[in-house]
Amino acid sequence: MCGIVGYIGQRNTKKVILQGLQTLEYRGYDSSGMALISKGEIIVEKKVGRIQNLIDSVEGKDLSSEIGIGHTRWATHGVPSDTNSHPHYSMDKSVAVVHNGIIENYQSLKKDLEEKGFIFSSETDTEVISQLIQDMYDGNILNTVKKALKKIKGSYAIGVLHKDHPDELICAREHSPLVIGIGENENFIASDVSALLEYTKEVYYLEDGDIALLKKGEIEIFDKANNLVHRERKHIEWTLEQATKGGFPHFMLKEIFEQPQVIEDTFNKRVLNGRADFSDVLTFEDIKKINKIYIIACGTAYHAGLQGQFALQKIAKLDSSTDIASEFRYSDPFIDENTLVIFVSQSGETSDTLAALKEAKRKKAMTIAITNVVGSTISREADKVIYTLAGPEIAVASTKAYITQITIFYLLALYIAEIKNTISKEKYLEYISEIKNMSEKIDSILKNSNEIKNIANLLKNKKNGFYIGRGLDYKIAVEGSLKIKEVSYIHTEAFASGELKHGTIALIEKDTPVVVIATQQELIEKSISNIKEVKARGANIITVGFNNEKNLEEVSDNFIGIPKCNDLFSGFLSIIPLQLLAYYTSIAKGIDVDKPRNLAKSVTVE
Ligand code: F6R
Repeated sequence: MCGIVGYIGQRNTKKVILQGLQTLEYRGYDSSGMALISKGEIIVEKKVGRIQNLIDSVEGKDLSSEIGIGHTRWATHGVPSDTNSHPHYSMDKSVAVVHNGIIENYQSLKKDLEEKGFIFSSETDTEVISQLIQDMYDGNILNTVKKALKKIKGSYAIGVLHKDHPDELICAREHSPLVIGIGENENFIASDVSALLEYTKEVYYLEDGDIALLKKGEIEIFDKANNLVHRERKHIEWTLEQATKGGFPHFMLKEIFEQPQVIEDTFNKRVLNGRADFSDVLTFEDIKKINKIYIIACGTAYHAGLQGQFALQKIAKLDSSTDIASEFRYSDPFIDENTLVIFVSQSGETSDTLAALKEAKRKKAMTIAITNVVGSTISREADKVIYTLAGPEIAVASTKAYITQITIFYLLALYIAEIKNTISKEKYLEYISEIKNMSEKIDSILKNSNEIKNIANLLKNKKNGFYIGRGLDYKIAVEGSLKIKEVSYIHTEAFASGELKHGTIALIEKDTPVVVIATQQELIEKSISNIKEVKARGANIITVGFNNEKNLEEVSDNFIGIPKCNDLFSGFLSIIPLQLLAYYTSIAKGIDVDKPRNLAKSVTVE
C-alpha cells in the first residue's frame, strides 16, 4: 500500500525515480509525486491519477539532481488530489517526506504544531512528519529525524530530504516495508525489490525501528536503541525479466501463463528424491506434538488456505481450520505450544496477517509463514518460513502466487502424512506424481483459452452472478468469484451449491449467470441436481468440469472441460479457467486489469 523510492548518485535521478514508481505502481495508484534537491532547493512535483500524469507533467523540465524521493499513493487520509499526494513539504519547504503507513497520533501532533504557527496544506497524516522535522531541526538531519520519530506512533516507511543536506538521504521503517539497494557510489531505497532490479540485486532489509543514512558511497543503519548496526546483506535472485511483461499485454495474463513453470519450480525445490521435504521447518518431533493447525491469511491467500486445510485433513488427517487474519486476531482462539499456525501471504507484508502472527506468537504457538517475498516482515517474524517460488507477482489480482501456495500445502500434507504414517506407499507415490503432472495439464488448459474469451463476452454486460460448488469445488468457487469481482467489477457471490436453496436462490432470475465447478466425483450427481434447480429458475449455466463428463455438459449452457486428475487435486486445474474468465471479462469491459479501482497489491493497513 503506497510505494516509495529514493535515490542518491550520479544517474539521472528524475528517471530513476519515475521508473521506480512505475514498477511500484501496483502498490497504489491514485496519485504520485517526487522531490529532488536542485540548486539548493527542494523541488516537489506531484499529480493526482496514474503515474503517467506525473511523467507528462515533468517532461522537458530541467530537474537535474543527484538525490530524490518518490511516492505512489493509495489514499488513507484525505481524498486522492494533487495536494494530498506525496511528497509533503514542511511549511518553509526545507524538508520533503514520502511515507507509506499511518501515523496514528497525527491529530495531536498537528494540533501542537498549529499552536506553534505551522500551517498545513493537506489532509494527510504524513504532513505532520515533515512539519515536525522542520520544527525540531538542529542542523543535523539524521539526528533530527531520529528525535522526530520518537514522537510518532503508528506505522511508517519514510524517505526524507532536507534542502541543506543534498548529500544525505534519510529513511526509516516501522511496520511498513523498506529495502535499501546497494550500488557503487550510489544507493537506493524502495518499498520492494522489484523497483531496484534494474540497478542492483544487493540489498539490506531494514528492521522495525531502523533509521538509515544513505550517502553516495556509504550506508549507516541505526536500530531503535540508536546503535549503529550491521544488517545482513542479501542477494536477490529475481530477474528484471520476471518483473516485466515479457511480451504479454498485461501482467495478469503473463502471470496466469507462468503457472506451469512456478508449480514446477516450487515442486523441484521441495521434492527431493521423490519425497516432499520440509525438514527445515517441521521436524519429526514437531509433527508428533501438533494437536491442531490453524491457517491464517487474507483474500486470495485465505482461499489458498482453504485448500490447504482440505489437503491437511484429507491427506495428513490433521485437525485444521482456516480463518481470515483480521477476524482470527480477535476471536480468542485456543492456542498453545502444540498448535501450529500457518500464515499465508504473497507479499509477506499484509498488516492483518502480521498482527495475527504476533497474536499467535504471544500465545506461544509454533508459527510458519508461507510467503513469496524473501526478507519480508512476515518471513522474518514467523518461527520458520517456506518460500513459494512464484517470482515477482505484479498484477494486483493474485494468480501464480496462489497456485504456488496450494502446491506447498499439498506437498506439506504429504510430508506430514508420511511421517505420521497416514498414507500408504502407493498413494504417496500416486499423489506426488499428480502434483508433478499439474504443469502439463495446466498448459493444455491455457492452450484453449480462446473458448473462455467467448464466454467472457457473454458475461461482460452482467451485473450479478453466482459461483457454486460442493466440497473442494466450493473452495475454488470462492476464489473464482473474488477474481472476477476485483478485475471486472461484476458482483458475484460464491455459494456452497447445496446452500443456495436455503434463501439465496430467490435472486436467480432469467439469464443470471451461474458458474458451477463440479469435479468431485462423489458429489457430481448432487451438483447436477443443484444445476437443474437454478436452471429451472432461468439461470445461465457455465460449468467447469472434467473433460468428457457428458451428463454435466448436457445440463450446462457452456461447458469448460479440464484434464482428468484425482479429484483431491482438481483445484490446481479448475481455478485456471476461472482466472482466465476474470481476465477476459475485465479486458472485454475495457478495465485496467492489472490495476483495478480501489485496490492495491500490498495491504499494509489494518
Ligand atoms: C486478490 C488478492 C488479495 C490478496 C490479499 C492478501 O487477488 O491479491 O486478496 O491475496 O490482500 O495479500 P498477501 O497474500 O500479500 O498477504
